[in-house]
Amino acid sequence: MRILSGIQPTGLPHLGNYFGMMKSAIELQETGDALYFIADLHALTTVRDPEALRHNTREIAIDFLACGLDPVKSCLFRQSDITCISELSWILSTVTPMGLLERCHSYKDKLAKGLHASLGLFSYPVLMAADILAYDSDVVPVGRDQKQHLEVTRDIAVKINELYGEVFKLPEPLIRDESAAIPGTDGAKMSKSYGNTLELFLEEAPLKKKIMGIQTDSTPVEAPKPIEGSAILGIYRHVASPSDYAEMEADFLAGGKGYGDFKKRLFAAVWEYFAPMRESRKRFADDPAEVDRLLRDGAVRATSKTLPVMERMRRAIGLL
Ligand code: ADP
Ligand code: TRP
Repeated sequence: MRILSGIQPTGLPHLGNYFGMMKSAIELQETGDALYFIADLHALTTVRDPEALRHNTREIAIDFLACGLDPVKSCLFRQSDITCISELSWILSTVTPMGLLERCHSYKDKLAKGLHASLGLFSYPVLMAADILAYDSDVVPVGRDQKQHLEVTRDIAVKINELYGEVFKLPEPLIRDESAAIPGTDGAKMSKSYGNTLELFLEEAPLKKKIMGIQTDSTPVEAPKPIEGSAILGIYRHVASPSDYAEMEADFLAGGKGYGDFKKRLFAAVWEYFAPMRESRKRFADDPAEVDRLLRDGAVRATSKTLPVMERMRRAIGLL
């Protein structure tokens, strides 16, 4: 089984990325041939600062390794190092109906947020389809927000297969938690582009400050607190044991405790959850040359997996 996923270097990895994608990706490396990449070409649709792009790319690699990605079992690489992806993206774009892309929520959301409507932003899902199809991927672990992009990938693959015969494998999304996206400090989906993130490896004081700053309603201390839509509970659910979670939920419903108390419990749980990974992170952070070497090695191994697929595709469409 071939497993593939990507993450954009538009900022530093946060709890939403971890529980939405990185955790399953790391677990899956035990069950098949895993390929994980840093989607720097996708990030170019929004990041205009070259230093930030370089910095975030390496930091994401370090965080992924710290969280348990094994660079021997899995390939970890930069998307832009696999040069055939851009070629494949163009080829796929020639069969992609405009209407399919016009329907994409993430494009519409980005426009609504005031992003410039570039061709790259519009065709973002086609590049993503190229990422997935170039490796004959079977399974793609992603957060729920990427589900539609996986559907677009499958539609494009079906279109090519209808036109040219069986060229591409149809990938399946693997969505760990269908119920909800992990909320950010403002209660909306945690996202690097919303400025509401809890980064995985923040120092203690800034992490505490962000958690204490989570937006809450003005229910008085003595009154029961609403559990529906609570960002505190939405995050706590992932980092606490089931019994600690049940206890906090009961305390919400009982009243008599303030949000400050719940936030302190949330901070302690987040801090403890990531403690072992924080330790292992130091080893990689102290050796950036080794991280760069691992990324290059990952790219060489990943490229070799695209060769048979690209040859099959070029033959089928008449380029070979
Ligand atoms: P961001 O929205 O922060 O820019 P990315 O688009 O790079 O994050 O997403 C990388 C992976 O993390 C994707 O699989 C995405 O679905 C997942 N992800 C991001 N934010 C969340 C969230 N708040 N909850 C669940 N999964 C998430
Ligand atoms: N679009 C994904 C995101 O924003 C990142 C990504 C790019 C990706 N290419 C991919 C994810 C291929 C899975 C497979 O999260």
